[in-house]
Amino acid sequence: MVEQLTVSLPALKGRSVVSMMEWTPEEIKQILNTAQWMKGNRETVQSRRVLAGKHVALLFELPSTRTRVSFQVAISMLGAESVSLDWGSSQLGRGESLEDTARVLSRYVDGIVVRAHRHETVQALRRHATVPVFNALTDRAHPFQILADAMTIREELGGWSGIKVSYLGDGNNMAHSYMVIGAKLGMDITIATPIEYQPLPQIVEWARGEASLTGGSITITDNPERALFGADVVTTDVFVSMGDEGDLDRKRHLMQGFQINRNFMKLAKPQAIFLHCLPAHRGEEVTAEVIDGPQSKVFDQAENRLWVQMAGLSHTLG
Ligand code: CP
Ligand code: NVA
Repeated sequence: MVEQLTVSLPALKGRSVVSMMEWTPEEIKQILNTAQWMKGNRETVQSRRVLAGKHVALLFELPSTRTRVSFQVAISMLGAESVSLDWGSSQLGRGESLEDTARVLSRYVDGIVVRAHRHETVQALRRHATVPVFNALTDRAHPFQILADAMTIREELGGWSGIKVSYLGDGNNMAHSYMVIGAKLGMDITIATPIEYQPLPQIVEWARGEASLTGGSITITDNPERALFGADVVTTDVFVSMGDEGDLDRKRHLMQGFQINRNFMKLAKPQAIFLHCLPAHRGEEVTAEVIDGPQSKVFDQAENRLWVQMAGLSHTLG
């Protein structure tokens, strides 16, 4: 195991990363501390090759730029090798079961990174795999993205407790992930969506319960201006997620008042930062002047995907 800022938790070894709901605040902080340490000690980390001799499969049902490349680079920097599979050109595309795929891959590799439209797909793969499974995005959760966001928030604002995060747009995987990480780390999360696109009530309820233990809070509203008032972090995501394209026109119409522009940024604190998991559609969920402006930290956020994934892989597979 690599050197870290804090004592490593043995409970992390062999664990899957499917949703941050399953991780304790201490475990999440452990990953984030390791990620920060790795970022400051890149050469040392690379020279140690803590995962030498290991193999990690990448299985993607949906497109990706950041996740695919950052996982491949993370795996390589840790001394392991990645094996990339495409859903359509594997036997999954011809109907082989997830159960058999999980069992077979587990005989070849030490971990499986998987991006799938339905969260249940990743859960099923995890149930049948005998090696750790890493969720690279589903319709419900994007755990490594939200770890990168949390890392960026601490880098920029010094911590998480009492930080107000205002998310505008679709009640999607990123909205759910913000509620989950906010509840775990004691942040105040406000999600503003049109009534028709609110986040899943069971996740809101779960997050409220968890937030009551950490001093955080979860607010759901359909009023974007009110949501932004006093925010430390302003964030959004694409209005139409992968796999939801059937709803395109109606959704774009209902989301019109939720675009983050310069006037909306003025409602947040003057030193507020802007985050976006990317890919972004300038002129749709955010204006170019905001995402390309001085408050935007989106490329630091994208870089941090690499470090949280290196930390996650080294703790679970190392
Ligand atoms: N943020 C993110 O997951 O980007 P990709 O879809 O490019 O992987
Ligand atoms: N909500 C987006 C995130 C992309 C990284 C999607 O699921 O398409």
